[in-house]
Amino acid sequence: MPSEETKILLRESEIPQRWYNINSDLPAPLAPPIHPGTGKPLGPEDLAPLFPMELIKQEVSMEPYVEIPDDIMRIYKLWRPSPLYRAHRLEKHLGTPARIYYKNESFSPPGSHKPNTAVAQAYYNKQEGVRRIATETGAGQWGSALSFGCCLFGLECTVYMVKVSYEQKPYRRVLMETWGATVHPSPTTLTKAGQSILEKTPDSPGSLGIAISEAVEDAATHDDTKYSLGSVLNHVLLHQTIVGQEAKAQLKLVDEEPDVIVGCVGGGSNFAGLAFPFVKDKISGKEIDIVACEPESCPTLTRGLYKYDFGDTAQLTPLVKMYTLGHTFVPAPIHAGGLRYHGDAPQLCLLVNQKVIEARAYHQLTTFEAALTFTRIEGFLPAPETAHCIRAGIDEALKCKDTGEEKCILIGYSGHGFFDLGAYERYLADDLVDYEYPQEKIEAALKDLPEIQEPV
Ligand SMILES: Cc1ncc(COP(=O)(O)O)c(C=O)c1O
Repeated sequence: MPSEETKILLRESEIPQRWYNINSDLPAPLAPPIHPGTGKPLGPEDLAPLFPMELIKQEVSMEPYVEIPDDIMRIYKLWRPSPLYRAHRLEKHLGTPARIYYKNESFSPPGSHKPNTAVAQAYYNKQEGVRRIATETGAGQWGSALSFGCCLFGLECTVYMVKVSYEQKPYRRVLMETWGATVHPSPTTLTKAGQSILEKTPDSPGSLGIAISEAVEDAATHDDTKYSLGSVLNHVLLHQTIVGQEAKAQLKLVDEEPDVIVGCVGGGSNFAGLAFPFVKDKISGKEIDIVACEPESCPTLTRGLYKYDFGDTAQLTPLVKMYTLGHTFVPAPIHAGGLRYHGDAPQLCLLVNQKVIEARAYHQLTTFEAALTFTRIEGFLPAPETAHCIRAGIDEALKCKDTGEEKCILIGYSGHGFFDLGAYERYLADDLVDYEYPQEKIEAALKDLPEIQEPV
């Protein structure tokens, strides 16, 4: 019988000791990343100016597991293992026979899943003698996480923060500065990439694609500086798999296995972290519906093309095969800032393309409506990003109410919304609107996709 506990807790000694690498179980090989200059597949040496060698090795590793170093584990213990909650009150409120669980990553110092990789990335950079790390941030969650990770390992951190979020979320900036980081509103005049955007569009609200260009350029032009990405790349998703492995052990404690897993997708890291350890079971024959939730205003997985594209606007990053809305895409200023990215993680895209994972898109208002229900019933205030999969989880539970199915639903609760109260204020004042990305705009951005001969 499933337990009546509300919090399902592991001991620190039960934290998984290894990250799970899905490369070893993918149903088809990943298309290799392509060098933006030569048009040929990348080698590890091409990535060396940007990343420490240990992370490059993890990026291409085919080993099923990677050991977590002790220094990282000691820091993980500040907030890990994270609790798995049974949403008893929400189940009752919805009148559903479904059992709803949420894996709560909001207890980390910066308030989301992001430090699972930020701490690991800071550690490997420190090990290899790097002095400073440059990065971009959308909503500010990733920038906060990397600022925290760098602070704990004594590294300098420079953050290019998408201008619209910099203005919407001043306290995220203060949090990053409190951990010792330097934060710039992007586009800036500090980089060639930023200057060229500002020449064409002086009032550009910025985008993740532009901020990535700035951070990559900063790292590439300074010998003592490396670049760090908070999502999308294989090694980032790898580090997040601690979440799903813990969730699996927690569900086992209460004799449960998920029938449905829902998570929100910006670049794919929290979703992959939760889902990949279960994708392994699905590939081996278990029946699980695994649903990736994204905004209608940035519908990468549901309306993008599965093609090679750049990760950034200035075309500095390697080309990867992914679902993309085009690297020139500038999304509407919805409040789920962390979900406004034109592409997604290649590993996740491959699994969507192979129909192992399903993708769904949601409008902003319905996600806030779900977040409000959740907050008023469960008490926790989710980040607007997280609200997307809360919407999906509630919808799934309501379907069970109609059919009488007693499904076990697992929600990825990726972060809290305490820095998003401006968005909640607007929602409560009826001042938020939905943005559907117009098909003509998608088609126009997709016209700029590079023509790449796919390696065989
Ligand atoms: C709370 C939260 N959830 C989800 C995301 C989306 O990122 P990813 O898809 O990499 O998990 C973000 C990104 O900033 C975030 O802050």
